[in-house]
Amino acid sequence: MTGNKKAIQEMKRKAAKEALKFVKDRMVLGIGSGSTVREFIKLLGTSDFDTQEIVCIPSSLDTENMLIENNMVVGTLNQYPVIDLTVDGADRVDKDLNVIKGGGGALLREKIIAAAAKDLVIIVDESKMVDELGGSFPIPVEVIPHAKEFVKKKLLALQGEPELRIASDKLGPTVTDNGNVILDTDFKIISNPTIFEGILNNIPGVMENGLFPNYIVSRVIVATEKEIKVKEKT
Ligand code: A5P
Repeated sequence: MTGNKKAIQEMKRKAAKEALKFVKDRMVLGIGSGSTVREFIKLLGTSDFDTQEIVCIPSSLDTENMLIENNMVVGTLNQYPVIDLTVDGADRVDKDLNVIKGGGGALLREKIIAAAAKDLVIIVDESKMVDELGGSFPIPVEVIPHAKEFVKKKLLALQGEPELRIASDKLGPTVTDNGNVILDTDFKIISNPTIFEGILNNIPGVMENGLFPNYIVSRVIVATEKEIKVKEKT
């Protein structure tokens, strides 16, 4: 690991550790996806909590595997449709706590467990922070394969630049845990994330998009090399 990668890894661990402060005994926890969440799972698994009394609802097959490897109790959203707290990472966070997620392709289930939670805590290292979401990271749009070209046209009409996500260890497109494909779509300007989230989801064939406007976010924990900032919605 290079020095920079090591520093980022350490920041991810620190943000994850801070998130443990929001966990309480016997909670139903939504667990996001990605490398920062992996740190959270490891810390939770070795914490003083009675982890057999905490039920974790995973947002991806990857997270489900990590939870099992760390001896956590895994439940389904159908068993526990109300989640006390969801902890998840992010690809970008703006100054108003609007978020882009889905770099790992788990955005659909991540959005569902975020919406089902009483609280959503996002954990990031400082490299994810931006002033504006527009132009900072493409918004992943999960689409049923049948509608791929139709949705592409609609995204182009919205001034987006859609690109089909291609798998790195299989031929052809990345296929999500839900059997869909992803159009990573760069938008130079996102003036109102809440309205824009709805516009994208209103395109027939779109299952979900990776814009998580701040109405869904309770707080963001940002780790820098020197400190931890807990940003609350104002
Ligand atoms: C998964 O689909 C994403 O939403 C992740 O939460 C996001 O990409 C953050 O991942 P890292 O913690 O690995 O940066």
